[in-house]
Amino acid sequence: MSNDDDFRDANAPAPHGLGTRLVHHDYQPPSAFGGLNVGVHHASTIAFPNVAALRSRDWRKADSYTYGLHGTPTTFTLERRIASLEGGHHCLLLPSGLAAITVVDLAMLKAGDRVLLPDNVYGPSRELANTTLKDFGIDAVFYDPTNLATLEAALDERTKLIWMETPGSVTMEVPDIPAIVALAKQRGILTAIDNTWAAGLLFRPFDHGVDIVMHALTKYPSGGSDVMMGSITTRDEALHLRLKATHMRFGIGVAPDDCYLMLRGMATLELRLAKSGDNGLALAAWFAQRPDVATVLHPAHASCPGHAFWARDFHGSCGLFSVVLDARYGEAEVDVMLDALKLFKLGYSWGGVHSLAVPYAVNQPGGTSRLAWSHRGPLLRFYAGTEDVNDLIADLTQAFGKMALLRA
Ligand SMILES: Cc1ncc(COP(=O)(O)O)c(C=O)c1O
Repeated sequence: MSNDDDFRDANAPAPHGLGTRLVHHDYQPPSAFGGLNVGVHHASTIAFPNVAALRSRDWRKADSYTYGLHGTPTTFTLERRIASLEGGHHCLLLPSGLAAITVVDLAMLKAGDRVLLPDNVYGPSRELANTTLKDFGIDAVFYDPTNLATLEAALDERTKLIWMETPGSVTMEVPDIPAIVALAKQRGILTAIDNTWAAGLLFRPFDHGVDIVMHALTKYPSGGSDVMMGSITTRDEALHLRLKATHMRFGIGVAPDDCYLMLRGMATLELRLAKSGDNGLALAAWFAQRPDVATVLHPAHASCPGHAFWARDFHGSCGLFSVVLDARYGEAEVDVMLDALKLFKLGYSWGGVHSLAVPYAVNQPGGTSRLAWSHRGPLLRFYAGTEDVNDLIADLTQAFGKMALLRA
């Protein structure tokens, strides 16, 4: 799936492959204890060895233990793991992916600033920009990630941050990240990316000059559909400290138990992602040959806008994609099909071992938004888990059969 050399931190000698590095870590258990996993260290108070250490404490320093909120050996181990996985130098953990997005916005923007977001951005990020950010005097403008003229037209001297998402939530367009970064750099504007689809492995934003990488660890790194967490990774220390200050002021921390589960999940990340990605490709190919499917929106398919950028910039695909059904199908028929699914569960989020399906409305009240959307049929988002793919196809076949019966 991936070339190990691509995931090396340029600053550190990395004699081992990715799979090895995901399993082995730098945590030192207490002497004479041979457990293989990182211990769960809880703390609010952390005792200083003497008053000089207390007086000179600095929560901004990496791995400095000052108070539970700022981190324990468990949380710091996970931060280091994410930073190294994503090719960054610094990482902050947040209690959800959305909290990570929020901290990026609030750390980087102030009243009078403008932020640009792709129009296919994760819905709650759009909601944050249109409500709280607006209330704080921050101007949010949405651009079409498939038409960078719309981004250029929105750039002005107030613009301080450009968000990117690759591919875009639900409608799956892959943007030309290097081109967006080039436009931002010409004007000294910071760039942030939601890199969740790539699971930290399939796309390397820092290699393309992106400043801030946000990742909903809730998805693939957790892998269990049961832990929520987000990360913000940077290479630049000043940027990291700015984010860390906002993180500290809001009092947002993560539970060491959740970090433990995340670390445990990450050991099998590469294996799970490979199986889910392969299953996703097989399902997308199955959908592509069906007469009731108008379009397959999977970055590895030429029918997906931005497919060429995916082929140029990515090292593979995860199991999340969408399809647009033929326009003759309406909500009532789609609902019969969805209710008939047995292995696919109906539910939000993704990245676990269970396959999922969710219907989405585009450009309708409460739905996802696109400036340019020409499809007329209903959109369904599928997530391929790690089940046997033949069983998944059989499940889809029987459910689509029920939908067809309604038209027979
Ligand atoms: C692309 C993307 N970004 C961010 C998030 C938010 O992550 P979380 O659910 O951890 O808040 C999600 C969640 O579905 C997502 O799909």
